[in-house]
Amino acid sequence: MSGLAGAALPLLRLLPPETAHHLTLRALALGLVPAPGGAPEPLLRTTLWGRDFPNPIGLAAGFDKNAAVPDAMLGLGFGFVEIGSVTPLAQAGNPKPRVFRIGEDGAVINRLGFNNDGLDLVAARLAARPRRGIVGANIGKNRDSPDAVADYEAGIRAFAPLADYLVVNISSPNTPGLRDLQRRHEVTALLERLLAARRAAAPGTPPPLLVKIAPDLTEEERADLADVALTSGIDGLIIANTTVARPPGLRGVHAHEPGGLSGKPLFAPSTALLAEMYRRTKGRVPLIGVGGIANGADAYAKIRAGASLVQLYTALIYQGPGLVERIKSELAALLRRDRFASVAAAIGSGG
Ligand SMILES: Cc1cc2nc3c(=O)[nH]c(=O)nc-3n(C[C@H](O)[C@H](O)[C@H](O)COP(=O)(O)O)c2cc1C
Repeated sequence: MSGLAGAALPLLRLLPPETAHHLTLRALALGLVPAPGGAPEPLLRTTLWGRDFPNPIGLAAGFDKNAAVPDAMLGLGFGFVEIGSVTPLAQAGNPKPRVFRIGEDGAVINRLGFNNDGLDLVAARLAARPRRGIVGANIGKNRDSPDAVADYEAGIRAFAPLADYLVVNISSPNTPGLRDLQRRHEVTALLERLLAARRAAAPGTPPPLLVKIAPDLTEEERADLADVALTSGIDGLIIANTTVARPPGLRGVHAHEPGGLSGKPLFAPSTALLAEMYRRTKGRVPLIGVGGIANGADAYAKIRAGASLVQLYTALIYQGPGLVERIKSELAALLRRDRFASVAAAIGSGG
C-alpha cells in the first residue's frame, strides 16, 4: 500500500463509516489512491463464461453502488468489479446512521436500504467508460415499487448491453419483502421473465445472469434454490449476501443494530453454504464465494469449497487497498504449495 493510503486509513476510521466511504470514493475518483506496481500473476488467470479474468478476486456489490469508480477499483488489482445494487428510480435509502463498524470483530452492520442514483444515471456512467476490465451490474427493486418483477426487468434491459455479467439481488435484508423472492415459486417466475428480458435486450451475446442469495435460508429453500440453479438456465449463484443472524460472541457495542452483518463473522456460515450449494449443484453451476474474506487463505478456502471466483468488501474497510495485492500473492503461494496448476484445478477440491 502507498504511504499516503496507509496513513489515511487510521484517519478514515475516526470518521463515521458513510463519511469515510464518501471520502474514499472521492479520492479514488480523483486518482489519489495509487495503483500498485507489480506484474500480474499468471497462475491466477482464470476463464469463466468464456471471459478471461486476470485473477479471481472481485470487489463485491455495495462499495461502488453508482459505478463511480469501477476502473479505479480494477486499477487496485481486482480481477473484476460488481457495481450496484441499482434500482430503477434513484432512492435515498434508510435514515442515518445506517452503517456501523464492529472493529473488534472485523465486521460491519449495514441497513442502507439500496441508496443509489437509479438506472438512468448509473447506466450512462457505465456506457461512458472505456470497456476494459470485467464489470458486473447488480440490480434491485425500489422499496415502494408495486411490481418487483418489472423493476428487475428494467435493470436487465438497462445493463444487459453494458455489463459483463448481471446479478439479481433478491437477498438484501434491508428492503422489506425482498428475500421472499427467493422462494421456489417466486424465484422461478422471476427468472423466467428475466431470462426472456435478457434475450430481448442482448440477443447476440447475452451476459451471464447470476442470482445472489442470502446466508439465512431454510433447508427447504436451499434445496429449492439449488434445483432452480440447475434447471432455470441461469449462469451462476453468488453466495452470500449479509446475514440477519448474530453469531454468538460478537463484541462491538453496535453488534445488535438491525441490518445485515458482513465481515469475519460471516466467513464460516457463508463458506458452509457455498460448500453445500456446490454439493447440491454437483459442481455444474458456477459459484461466486463472498463473505468474510480477509486474506489469501480465506479466498483459497472459498475456492476449495466450490467457488470459481470470490469477492470481498468489508475487509477493505479495515485493511485498505493494499489488501488486494496481498490476497493475490498469498493465494498464488497457496496454490503453488498444493501444486495446483490453476485456480480452476482447485475449485471444489476441499470437499
Ligand atoms: C456497506 C455495505 C453495502 C452493501 N450493499 C450491497 C448491495 O447494494 N447489493 C448487494 O448485493 N450486496 C451488498 N452488500 C453485501 C456485499 O456485497 C457482500 O455480499 C457482503 O458484505 C459479504 O462480503 P464481505 O464480508 O466481504 O463484506 C453490502 C455490504 C456492505 C458492507
